[in-house]
Amino acid sequence: MKKVTIHSLQKQKAAGQKICVVTAYDAAFARIFDEAGVDALLVGDSLGMVIQGHNSTLPVTMEHMLYHTQAVSRGAKRAHIIADMPFGSYQASDEEAVRNAMRLLSEGGAGSIKLEGGEAYAPTLRRLVRAGIPVMGHIGLQPQQVHSTGGFVVQGRSEESAQQILRDAKALEQAGAYALVLEAIPMELARTLSALLSIPTIGIGAGKHCDGQVLVCYDLLGMLPHFKPKFVKQYANLHEVVSQAAQQFCEEVRTECFPSEEHAFRSMRLVSSTEEAPERANSVYGAPI
Ligand code: KIV
Repeated sequence: MKKVTIHSLQKQKAAGQKICVVTAYDAAFARIFDEAGVDALLVGDSLGMVIQGHNSTLPVTMEHMLYHTQAVSRGAKRAHIIADMPFGSYQASDEEAVRNAMRLLSEGGAGSIKLEGGEAYAPTLRRLVRAGIPVMGHIGLQPQQVHSTGGFVVQGRSEESAQQILRDAKALEQAGAYALVLEAIPMELARTLSALLSIPTIGIGAGKHCDGQVLVCYDLLGMLPHFKPKFVKQYANLHEVVSQAAQQFCEEVRTECFPSEEHAFRSMRLVSSTEEAPERANSVYGAPI
């Protein structure tokens, strides 16, 4: 099985094949998305909100990102793995940015990193690329700037803001970004950018003209029923499925329906020779290690 690379993602743009990206934070979901044919898994700092329960991505640290990137790397065989640079890991100096980005590749197992920021971050991005680190840019709404922008608001609606986003995109492409996330910008602007740039654009809340799309997996799966931004489509209702399973488990434990004999171990002298091979009967997970 061939691993997806930044070059194959770029070839997809050239061939007009849309790129599918989903966030993942653990090995189990990474395996499912990988086997489902998702092209790239983004270990997003959105984990601060959906996994850790914060109301922004700012508390996420390098250690958190490494922990989750390692887990996702263990689960995925084919998909390209992108790890987010968390707030504070690249803003202070380019040296620190290179050191932290390298850790996500060497210790985390990511194939590339992503960082938020427009043309002001082009020099940092260039420095990372020179160090051999593939970088995906992220412009438009930048959740790490929530305190400067005054909230999670659509960007690029005014002419001035749209012009700035155009400058950001061009500067990052010139600095060597291999792709750009466009978050929460008007679809007309995303179409212009996707036509203008030779690198792929991956949209989230940026309409259908981007070269690919990314969604936070918990949004896509319907895990958070009370959080449904306009740009999210829920492809499942996992909140209900999980809640019903948990309710049924409680009911069966309380009524002593679970565990039944089928889910219990027997004393060795009660296991008939035809029932189970001794090594299987001893193995808690059903097969010898
Ligand atoms: O952190 C994240 O999940 C992201 C996506 C929303 C693009 O950056």
